[in-house]
Amino acid sequence: MDRTALVTGASSGIGKATAAALVARGYRVIGTSRRPESLTAGQRADGVEMLPLDLGDEASIEALARAAGPVDVLVNNAGESQSGPFEELPGDALRRLFQVNVLGPVRLTQLLVPGMRERRRGRVVMVGSMLASFPLAYRSSYVASKAALRGFSDGARHEYSPFGVWLTTVEPGSINTGISARRTKYTSEDSPHRADFARMLAALDRNERTGVPAERVAATIVTAIEASRPRAHYAVGSNAALVFPLRRLLPSGLVEKATHRRHDLRR
Ligand SMILES: NC(=O)c1ccc[n+]([C@@H]2O[C@H](COP(=O)([O-])OP(=O)(O)OC[C@H]3O[C@@H](n4cnc5c(N)ncnc54)[C@H](OP(=O)(O)O)[C@@H]3O)[C@@H](O)[C@H]2O)c1
Repeated sequence: MDRTALVTGASSGIGKATAAALVARGYRVIGTSRRPESLTAGQRADGVEMLPLDLGDEASIEALARAAGPVDVLVNNAGESQSGPFEELPGDALRRLFQVNVLGPVRLTQLLVPGMRERRRGRVVMVGSMLASFPLAYRSSYVASKAALRGFSDGARHEYSPFGVWLTTVEPGSINTGISARRTKYTSEDSPHRADFARMLAALDRNERTGVPAERVAATIVTAIEASRPRAHYAVGSNAALVFPLRRLLPSGLVEKATHRRHDLRR
């Protein structure tokens, strides 16, 4: 196959599994890491060419787009998992989150999608989160960032579909990647939310540890990439096939209650 796929955040978890799955499907795969030179052998998927990318840095995004050359498939996977009570989230942490999870991937897509449009073929997958569809207390910034990313994809989707270029969002549920150890957490010493926030974090970590493997998400991403008319949204993990239909049938208050119960919060 003569197609090139670019997967951001390919040094661990979903990105690494997706890069490996695309290599197995015959793509030439470029993966990214903030520090590709310092990755261990275990952090590199076989057959993946690793390039530097820091989504917090516009110059790094532009350098990656230049270094990658023509790309047929872009998987915007890299992201930060942030948590904290709404009123305690520092402004600089919010700005970084929206740069890394939203504006960075959007800029990279803006740089690569014109080539796809000119070649009249391409796929862009945004890795969102089921939390964007099932919002949760103490995750408001993360929920908002993933909803914003999905919004860009949904909005731009039919600007590009006439050119054979499809944008799609894959929403993972709880996936066992070790992301809990890398989650950023913000709370104040005297927070009135301290006990609930700690309980929610413990449940989040437990759900991640018992979540489905990253390879399941990679398989869904490959399905979206290889569909002739990819759907706007896919979801995987956390019983997605059951809970999305239920969400449409049940009253929203009940869905909110069930989401919070799953994270040991009574609302
Ligand atoms: N795991 C879950 O339960 C879950 C659920 C829903 C959604 N997701 C989403 O799925 C995606 C992947 O999650 P994961 O669990 O596989 O996470 P992970 O194992 O922590 O991997 C995150 C990847 O993103 C890269 N990265 C982090 N910050 C970056 C930055 N500022 N600039 C460029 N690259 C950066 C990391 O690379 P380096 O550190 O090498 O730079 C790493 O390869 C994320 O967008 C996450 O929000 C995960």
